[in-house]
Amino acid sequence: MPSFRSNSEQTGWPQDVGILALEVYFPAEYVDQEELEAFDGVSKGKYTIGLGQTRMGFCSDREDINSLCLTVLSRLMDRNSVGYENIGRLEVGTETIIDKSKSVKSCLMQLFEESGNTDVEGIDTTNACYGGTSALINAINWVESSSWDGRYAVVVAGDIAVYATGAARPTGGAGAVAMLVGPHAPLIMERGLRGSHMCHVYDFYKPDLSSEYPTVDGKLSIQCYLSALDACYQTFSRKAAAKEPSSPAMSLEEVDAVVFHTPFCKLVQKSLARLSFNDFLNCPADQVSTLYPGLDAFREKKLVDTYFDRDVEKAFMTHSQELFLSKTKPSLLIATQVGNMYTPSLYGGLASFISCNTVASLAGKRVALFSYGSGLAATMFSIRVSQDVGPDSALSNLVASLQDLPQRLDSRCKVSPPDFAETMKLRQDTHHKAPYSPVGSVDRLFPGTWYLTRVDEMHRRQYECRPLVGIPAAPGSAATTVLMKEAASLTAESTQRLHV
Ligand code: CAA
Repeated sequence: MPSFRSNSEQTGWPQDVGILALEVYFPAEYVDQEELEAFDGVSKGKYTIGLGQTRMGFCSDREDINSLCLTVLSRLMDRNSVGYENIGRLEVGTETIIDKSKSVKSCLMQLFEESGNTDVEGIDTTNACYGGTSALINAINWVESSSWDGRYAVVVAGDIAVYATGAARPTGGAGAVAMLVGPHAPLIMERGLRGSHMCHVYDFYKPDLSSEYPTVDGKLSIQCYLSALDACYQTFSRKAAAKEPSSPAMSLEEVDAVVFHTPFCKLVQKSLARLSFNDFLNCPADQVSTLYPGLDAFREKKLVDTYFDRDVEKAFMTHSQELFLSKTKPSLLIATQVGNMYTPSLYGGLASFISCNTVASLAGKRVALFSYGSGLAATMFSIRVSQDVGPDSALSNLVASLQDLPQRLDSRCKVSPPDFAETMKLRQDTHHKAPYSPVGSVDRLFPGTWYLTRVDEMHRRQYECRPLVGIPAAPGSAATTVLMKEAASLTAESTQRLHV
């Protein structure tokens, strides 16, 4: 049984509110980006070196936003042995809209039916890739508020990122995360330390409700991402200085890791360089030549003039190379192999970072996170990792539960670019079709994956779950035994059915 401390111990203001457990789901099929370069007829290296992507996960017509979220939520609950009756708030962040009224959250309530718990606050939140962060902030705020009833909150973020054929298609992906939120967390959200930047812009949006594809102004979207990063970092730094006046001024030296929303990995490397450029501009004049040797010539540059300044970009990518390797690259494990997951992207980065570390190396670390959703909404916030490194601690369980990420990524099935393109065409042609019976393979899905079985003439969607055989529970969890017993007794008839 995971060692989440009982909420009944709680008296007064809840302490150390944050993420207790974290689950990631990505599709079982992927296309290789090098093969995609050849298939698309672009120059060799454009997707792999230019964008920094190696593989891209995608879904057949068997998966939609409801099924992705059903999969990741049931996995979180099973692997951590948390009963559905213990959840008082469930928030979903997504930009994958299949119904203009009925929320994904309402679909997830089917998993609660057996527990009899319908007293669950929260609903869907949408603004491009930012919905997951908004959902997390809502969940944290609920636990810290007078409305909190002592139960856990859960945040689910999921998306299917697909683009029309062309330059943006290799920046697609798909996946979902689920996070258990409560007090005494191993990943503690730092209080009073969030820097946000929100404004009106048309960089990426989805005005055509009959299509899964967004309308994208690629270059503008990059400029918006970088300008939001500058603004959030400045606000975050200002608040950090106000909160801890005796601490050194905020800079990359003050954090142990920086995790970014990742539309493609190359932009993240440029973003870390961008933060280094911010630090350089904030650096007292008498320290510049020591801390930034050879970079004095850039001292007169202005943030607003340099989004596409190649000289600044190159100089600070070189200067921050070591910082990138140590503080950010470990967070790109899922992003480079799955692609942009939209709302879960940032939290897939957090999971990747944890999976590359040990309990001892994580304890006490401070992680800065940057969330960006086009349109635009962005926030930088920070997490402190707890110091509780005991073998049964929540931190140990969290780390153990994410150790299998590389193995899970490797166990996916590679699909050729022509078959990938055909699947995209199938999704495009059958999007919103009713009645409809999906044709994608069920056998290729990971065990424990929820999938669409039918859309009826009234657009009601029905789902089933592939038996759980082979899915390990989080080490140390009582669910290990339960799942092994379940695996042994599961038959085709015992497959769960859901109807919405
Ligand atoms: N070898 C190595 N590198 C190569 C190469 C080759 N053979 N050919 C090209 N490249 C490099 C280019 O030089 C370029 O790198 P730099 O910018 O560092 O110079 C990179 O590969 C990409 O090439 P292009 O600039 O020519 O690419 P493009 O214009 O055809 O498309 C894109 C790139 C605009 C990102 C496009 O994929 C797109 O629109 N994607 C979707 C939008 C997006 O992801 N925006 C990111 C910010 S918005 C956001 O974060 C929200 C979200 O999740 C969507």
